[in-house]
Amino acid sequence: SQNIILRDLAVPRFFGAAANTTFLFHDVNYTKVIETQFSIFTPENEMKWESIEPEPNGFDFTAADEIVRFAESVNAKVRGHNFMWGNQLPPWVNDTLSATELDRALKNHITTIMDHYRGKLYSWDVINEMISDNTPNETFKDNIWTQKFGEEAMPKALTYARAVDSQPKLYINDYSIEGINSKSDALYSVVSSFLADGVPVDAIGFQCHFTLGQIPDTLQENLQRFADLGLDVAITELDINLMGPSNATALEQQAKDYWTVVNACVQTKRCSVWGVSDDHSWIPNGSVLPWNAEKQPKPAFYAIADAF
Ligand code: XIL
Repeated sequence: SQNIILRDLAVPRFFGAAANTTFLFHDVNYTKVIETQFSIFTPENEMKWESIEPEPNGFDFTAADEIVRFAESVNAKVRGHNFMWGNQLPPWVNDTLSATELDRALKNHITTIMDHYRGKLYSWDVINEMISDNTPNETFKDNIWTQKFGEEAMPKALTYARAVDSQPKLYINDYSIEGINSKSDALYSVVSSFLADGVPVDAIGFQCHFTLGQIPDTLQENLQRFADLGLDVAITELDINLMGPSNATALEQQAKDYWTVVNACVQTKRCSVWGVSDDHSWIPNGSVLPWNAEKQPKPAFYAIADAF
Protein backbone atom coordinates (compact mmCIF):
# COMPACT_ATOMS: atom_id res chain seq x y z
CA SER A 1 0.00 0.00 0.00
CA GLN A 2 2.96 2.32 0.56
CA ASN A 3 3.21 2.91 -3.15
CA ILE A 4 -0.47 3.50 -3.74
CA ILE A 5 -1.27 7.21 -3.67
CA LEU A 6 -4.96 7.82 -4.27
CA ARG A 7 -4.55 11.50 -5.19
CA ASP A 8 -2.22 10.51 -8.03
CA LEU A 9 -4.53 7.79 -9.28
CA ALA A 10 -7.44 10.25 -9.24
CA VAL A 11 -5.81 12.72 -11.66
CA PRO A 12 -7.32 14.67 -13.44
CA ARG A 13 -9.96 14.46 -10.74
CA PHE A 14 -9.45 15.23 -7.07
CA PHE A 15 -9.62 12.81 -4.20
CA GLY A 16 -10.47 14.49 -0.93
CA ALA A 17 -11.19 14.14 2.75
CA ALA A 18 -12.64 16.04 5.65
CA ALA A 19 -9.68 17.48 7.56
CA ASN A 20 -9.97 18.06 11.29
CA THR A 21 -7.64 20.23 13.39
CA THR A 22 -8.35 18.06 16.44
CA PHE A 23 -6.20 15.35 14.83
CA LEU A 24 -4.05 17.18 12.28
CA PHE A 25 -0.48 17.37 13.67
CA HIS A 26 -1.69 15.67 16.89
CA ASP A 27 -2.15 12.13 15.59
CA VAL A 28 1.07 11.34 13.72
CA ASN A 29 -0.24 8.46 11.62
CA TYR A 30 -3.42 10.33 10.70
CA THR A 31 -1.26 13.25 9.62
CA LYS A 32 0.90 10.97 7.47
CA VAL A 33 -2.13 9.61 5.61
CA ILE A 34 -3.67 13.02 5.18
CA GLU A 35 -0.42 14.53 3.87
CA THR A 36 0.06 11.96 1.15
CA GLN A 37 -3.28 10.67 -0.08
CA PHE A 38 -5.57 13.63 -0.83
CA SER A 39 -5.67 16.54 -3.25
CA ILE A 40 -8.64 18.43 -1.77
CA PHE A 41 -9.80 19.01 1.81
CA THR A 42 -13.00 20.12 3.48
CA PRO A 43 -12.63 21.51 7.02
CA GLU A 44 -14.81 19.13 9.05
CA ASN A 45 -16.05 21.80 11.51
CA GLU A 46 -13.66 24.75 11.39
CA MET A 47 -15.60 26.94 8.94
CA LYS A 48 -19.04 26.29 10.40
CA TRP A 49 -20.81 29.37 11.74
CA GLU A 50 -20.41 28.56 15.44
CA SER A 51 -16.65 28.07 14.97
CA ILE A 52 -15.82 30.94 12.65
CA GLU A 53 -18.22 33.68 13.86
CA PRO A 54 -19.19 32.71 17.40
CA GLU A 55 -20.15 36.29 18.31
CA PRO A 56 -21.80 38.94 16.09
CA ASN A 57 -19.09 40.18 13.73
CA GLY A 58 -16.55 38.45 15.98
CA PHE A 59 -14.63 36.20 13.60
CA ASP A 60 -12.11 33.56 14.60
CA PHE A 61 -10.20 32.19 11.63
CA THR A 62 -7.52 30.37 13.64
CA ALA A 63 -8.56 26.76 13.09
CA ALA A 64 -9.83 27.29 9.55
CA ASP A 65 -6.59 29.04 8.57
CA GLU A 66 -4.63 26.10 9.92
CA ILE A 67 -6.35 23.78 7.45
CA VAL A 68 -5.94 26.21 4.55
CA ARG A 69 -2.22 26.58 5.29
CA PHE A 70 -1.83 22.83 5.61
CA ALA A 71 -3.59 22.28 2.28
CA GLU A 72 -1.32 24.82 0.60
CA SER A 73 1.72 23.07 2.04
CA VAL A 74 0.76 19.78 0.40
CA ASN A 75 -0.47 21.42 -2.78
CA ALA A 76 -4.10 20.48 -2.19
CA LYS A 77 -7.27 22.48 -2.73
CA VAL A 78 -9.85 23.48 -0.13
CA ARG A 79 -13.66 23.30 -0.24
CA GLY A 80 -15.25 25.86 2.07
CA HIS A 81 -17.96 24.34 4.28
CA ASN A 82 -20.44 26.02 4.83
CA PHE A 83 -22.51 29.26 4.87
CA MET A 84 -26.22 28.41 5.15
CA TRP A 85 -27.12 25.43 7.33
CA GLY A 86 -29.60 24.78 10.15
CA ASN A 87 -26.96 23.16 12.39
CA GLN A 88 -23.89 24.28 14.32
CA LEU A 89 -25.18 27.85 14.53
CA PRO A 90 -24.31 30.02 17.51
CA PRO A 91 -27.33 31.01 19.64
CA TRP A 92 -27.18 34.65 18.52
CA VAL A 93 -27.95 33.56 14.96
CA ASN A 94 -30.49 30.95 15.84
CA ASP A 95 -32.83 32.75 18.20
CA THR A 96 -32.46 36.46 18.56
CA LEU A 97 -32.53 38.24 15.21
CA SER A 98 -35.34 39.76 13.18
CA ALA A 99 -35.49 38.91 9.47
CA THR A 100 -33.75 42.18 8.57
CA GLU A 101 -30.99 41.60 11.13
CA LEU A 102 -30.53 38.00 10.05
CA ASP A 103 -30.25 39.11 6.44
CA ARG A 104 -27.56 41.62 7.39
CA ALA A 105 -25.75 38.98 9.48
CA LEU A 106 -25.79 36.48 6.59
CA LYS A 107 -24.43 39.02 4.13
CA ASN A 108 -21.71 40.14 6.56
CA HIS A 109 -20.79 36.50 7.34
CA ILE A 110 -20.42 35.50 3.70
CA THR A 111 -18.66 38.72 2.69
CA THR A 112 -16.13 38.73 5.53
CA ILE A 113 -15.20 35.06 5.13
CA MET A 114 -14.99 35.08 1.35
CA ASP A 115 -12.86 38.23 1.52
CA HIS A 116 -10.55 36.56 4.03
CA TYR A 117 -10.05 33.53 1.78
CA ARG A 118 -10.03 35.35 -1.56
CA GLY A 119 -7.89 33.47 -4.06
CA LYS A 120 -7.41 30.49 -1.74
CA LEU A 121 -10.51 28.32 -1.97
CA TYR A 122 -11.65 26.06 -4.77
CA SER A 123 -15.33 26.15 -3.81
CA TRP A 124 -17.89 26.93 -1.13
CA ASP A 125 -20.78 24.84 0.12
CA VAL A 126 -22.92 27.97 0.18
CA ILE A 127 -25.96 25.83 0.92
CA ASN A 128 -25.93 22.77 3.18
CA GLU A 129 -28.90 20.46 3.81
CA MET A 130 -31.70 22.88 2.94
CA ILE A 131 -34.01 20.45 1.12
CA SER A 132 -36.75 18.88 3.25
CA ASP A 133 -36.92 15.21 4.16
CA ASN A 134 -40.68 15.43 3.59
CA THR A 135 -40.73 16.03 -0.14
CA PRO A 136 -42.93 16.41 -2.11
CA ASN A 137 -45.21 17.73 0.66
CA GLU A 138 -42.66 20.35 1.63
CA THR A 139 -39.64 21.47 -0.42
CA PHE A 140 -37.42 23.25 2.11
CA LYS A 141 -36.22 22.18 5.53
CA ASP A 142 -37.72 23.98 8.50
CA ASN A 143 -34.89 26.00 10.08
CA ILE A 144 -34.08 29.59 10.96
CA TRP A 145 -33.32 30.46 7.33
CA THR A 146 -36.60 29.24 5.89
CA GLN A 147 -38.52 30.57 8.89
CA LYS A 148 -37.22 34.08 8.25
CA PHE A 149 -36.76 34.11 4.46
CA GLY A 150 -39.02 31.35 3.08
CA GLU A 151 -38.04 30.25 -0.40
CA GLU A 152 -35.76 33.28 -0.77
CA ALA A 153 -33.27 31.74 1.68
CA MET A 154 -31.09 29.83 -0.80
CA PRO A 155 -31.06 32.52 -3.53
CA LYS A 156 -30.03 35.11 -0.94
CA ALA A 157 -26.96 33.17 0.17
CA LEU A 158 -25.94 32.23 -3.36
CA THR A 159 -26.33 35.80 -4.61
CA TYR A 160 -24.33 37.27 -1.71
CA ALA A 161 -21.56 34.74 -2.30
CA ARG A 162 -21.25 35.43 -6.01
CA ALA A 163 -21.22 39.18 -5.40
CA VAL A 164 -18.12 38.88 -3.17
CA ASP A 165 -15.98 36.65 -5.34
CA SER A 166 -16.72 35.20 -8.76
CA GLN A 167 -13.91 32.62 -8.59
CA PRO A 168 -14.94 29.86 -6.15
CA LYS A 169 -17.50 27.33 -7.36
CA LEU A 170 -20.77 27.75 -5.49
CA TYR A 171 -22.23 24.47 -4.25
CA ILE A 172 -25.55 23.21 -2.97
CA ASN A 173 -24.66 20.22 -0.76
CA ASP A 174 -27.15 17.70 0.64
CA TYR A 175 -27.79 14.10 1.75
CA SER A 176 -30.32 11.50 0.57
CA ILE A 177 -30.18 13.08 -2.89
CA GLU A 178 -27.73 10.48 -4.23
CA GLY A 179 -30.27 8.29 -6.01
CA ILE A 180 -33.27 9.32 -8.06
CA ASN A 181 -35.98 9.85 -5.46
CA SER A 182 -38.47 12.42 -4.25
CA LYS A 183 -35.81 14.52 -2.46
CA SER A 184 -33.40 14.62 -5.41
CA ASP A 185 -36.38 15.40 -7.70
CA ALA A 186 -37.22 18.35 -5.45
CA LEU A 187 -33.63 19.59 -5.60
CA TYR A 188 -33.63 19.07 -9.35
CA SER A 189 -36.61 21.36 -9.82
CA VAL A 190 -35.29 23.95 -7.35
CA VAL A 191 -31.94 24.13 -9.08
CA SER A 192 -33.54 24.16 -12.54
CA SER A 193 -35.57 27.19 -11.54
CA PHE A 194 -32.41 28.85 -10.14
CA LEU A 195 -30.69 28.35 -13.48
CA ALA A 196 -33.70 29.74 -15.35
CA ASP A 197 -33.90 32.76 -13.03
CA GLY A 198 -30.17 33.52 -13.02
CA VAL A 199 -29.59 32.58 -9.37
CA PRO A 200 -25.86 31.75 -9.22
CA VAL A 201 -25.08 28.07 -8.65
CA ASP A 202 -22.23 26.03 -10.12
CA ALA A 203 -22.37 22.60 -8.61
CA ILE A 204 -24.20 20.00 -6.53
CA GLY A 205 -22.48 18.14 -3.68
CA PHE A 206 -23.80 14.66 -2.96
CA GLN A 207 -22.82 13.80 0.61
CA CYS A 208 -23.03 10.00 0.30
CA HIS A 209 -23.24 8.98 3.96
CA PHE A 210 -24.16 5.41 3.06
CA THR A 211 -25.08 2.17 4.80
CA LEU A 212 -23.36 -1.12 3.87
CA GLY A 213 -24.87 -2.75 0.79
CA GLN A 214 -27.25 0.14 0.16
CA ILE A 215 -25.70 2.23 -2.57
CA PRO A 216 -28.59 3.53 -4.70
CA ASP A 217 -28.74 1.82 -8.14
CA THR A 218 -29.48 5.16 -9.74
CA LEU A 219 -26.43 6.99 -8.33
CA GLN A 220 -24.65 7.46 -11.64
CA GLU A 221 -27.81 8.24 -13.58
CA ASN A 222 -28.70 10.83 -10.96
CA LEU A 223 -25.25 12.51 -11.02
CA GLN A 224 -25.56 12.60 -14.79
CA ARG A 225 -28.93 14.36 -14.86
CA PHE A 226 -27.53 17.17 -12.71
CA ALA A 227 -24.37 17.31 -14.83
CA ASP A 228 -26.61 17.59 -17.89
CA LEU A 229 -27.96 20.85 -16.46
CA GLY A 230 -24.44 22.20 -16.90
CA LEU A 231 -23.51 21.82 -13.23
CA ASP A 232 -20.44 20.22 -11.69
CA VAL A 233 -21.24 17.25 -9.50
CA ALA A 234 -19.12 15.97 -6.63
CA ILE A 235 -19.20 13.25 -4.04
CA THR A 236 -18.46 15.34 -0.96
CA GLU A 237 -18.72 13.37 2.30
CA LEU A 238 -18.48 9.69 1.44
CA ASP A 239 -18.50 7.13 4.23
CA ILE A 240 -20.09 3.66 4.47
CA ASN A 241 -21.43 2.46 7.81
CA LEU A 242 -20.94 -1.28 8.49
CA MET A 243 -23.85 -1.15 10.99
CA GLY A 244 -22.22 -4.07 12.79
CA PRO A 245 -18.94 -5.85 13.50
CA SER A 246 -15.92 -5.25 11.31
CA ASN A 247 -15.36 -8.80 10.01
CA ALA A 248 -13.91 -9.96 6.69
CA THR A 249 -17.30 -10.33 4.99
CA ALA A 250 -18.41 -6.85 6.00
CA LEU A 251 -15.08 -5.33 4.94
CA GLU A 252 -15.34 -7.01 1.52
CA GLN A 253 -18.85 -5.65 1.01
CA GLN A 254 -17.64 -2.23 2.14
CA ALA A 255 -14.83 -2.40 -0.41
CA LYS A 256 -17.36 -3.24 -3.14
CA ASP A 257 -19.53 -0.34 -2.09
CA TYR A 258 -16.59 2.10 -2.11
CA TRP A 259 -15.72 0.82 -5.58
CA THR A 260 -19.28 1.40 -6.80
CA VAL A 261 -19.35 4.97 -5.54
CA VAL A 262 -15.87 5.91 -6.73
CA ASN A 263 -16.56 4.33 -10.09
CA ALA A 264 -19.67 6.50 -10.44
CA CYS A 265 -17.56 9.43 -9.32
CA VAL A 266 -14.90 8.72 -11.93
CA GLN A 267 -17.54 9.54 -14.54
CA THR A 268 -17.85 12.89 -12.76
CA LYS A 269 -15.22 15.28 -11.44
CA ARG A 270 -14.16 14.73 -7.86
CA CYS A 271 -14.76 12.71 -4.76
CA SER A 272 -14.22 13.32 -1.01
CA VAL A 273 -14.50 10.96 1.94
CA TRP A 274 -15.73 12.35 5.29
CA GLY A 275 -12.76 11.69 7.50
CA VAL A 276 -9.79 9.41 7.00
CA SER A 277 -9.63 6.62 9.56
CA ASP A 278 -12.35 4.79 11.51
CA ASP A 279 -11.23 6.06 14.93
CA HIS A 280 -11.63 9.73 13.99
CA SER A 281 -14.96 9.53 12.19
CA TRP A 282 -18.13 11.41 13.19
CA ILE A 283 -19.79 7.96 13.20
CA PRO A 284 -17.97 6.35 16.15
CA ASN A 285 -18.71 2.62 15.71
CA GLY A 286 -19.50 2.34 12.03
CA SER A 287 -15.99 1.50 10.72
CA VAL A 288 -17.03 3.78 7.89
CA LEU A 289 -13.71 4.83 6.31
CA PRO A 290 -10.94 3.40 4.06
CA TRP A 291 -8.31 3.35 6.86
CA ASN A 292 -8.71 1.55 10.19
CA ALA A 293 -7.89 2.92 13.63
CA GLU A 294 -4.25 1.82 13.20
CA LYS A 295 -4.20 3.89 9.97
CA GLN A 296 -3.72 0.71 7.97
CA PRO A 297 -5.50 0.57 4.61
CA LYS A 298 -8.66 -1.56 4.60
CA PRO A 299 -10.03 -3.52 1.62
CA ALA A 300 -11.96 -0.35 0.78
CA PHE A 301 -8.67 1.49 0.19
CA TYR A 302 -7.62 -1.00 -2.49
CA ALA A 303 -11.09 -0.89 -4.01
CA ILE A 304 -10.85 2.89 -4.37
CA ALA A 305 -7.44 2.57 -6.01
CA ASP A 306 -8.93 -0.01 -8.37
CA ALA A 307 -11.93 2.19 -9.26
CA PHE A 308 -9.62 5.06 -10.25
C1 XIL B 1 -20.35 16.57 11.19
C2 XIL B 1 -18.92 16.46 11.73
O1 XIL B 1 -18.30 15.37 11.09
C3 XIL B 1 -18.94 16.28 13.23
O2 XIL B 1 -17.61 16.35 13.75
C4 XIL B 1 -19.81 17.37 13.88
O3 XIL B 1 -19.90 17.11 15.27
C5 XIL B 1 -21.19 17.39 13.26
O4 XIL B 1 -21.07 17.58 11.86
N1 XIL B 1 -23.31 16.58 7.01
C6 XIL B 1 -22.45 17.66 6.94
C7 XIL B 1 -21.28 17.75 7.83
O5 XIL B 1 -22.61 18.50 6.03
O6 XIL B 1 -20.93 19.07 8.16
C8 XIL B 1 -21.50 16.93 9.10
O7 XIL B 1 -20.27 16.91 9.81
C9 XIL B 1 -21.93 15.52 8.75
C10 XIL B 1 -23.24 15.54 8.00
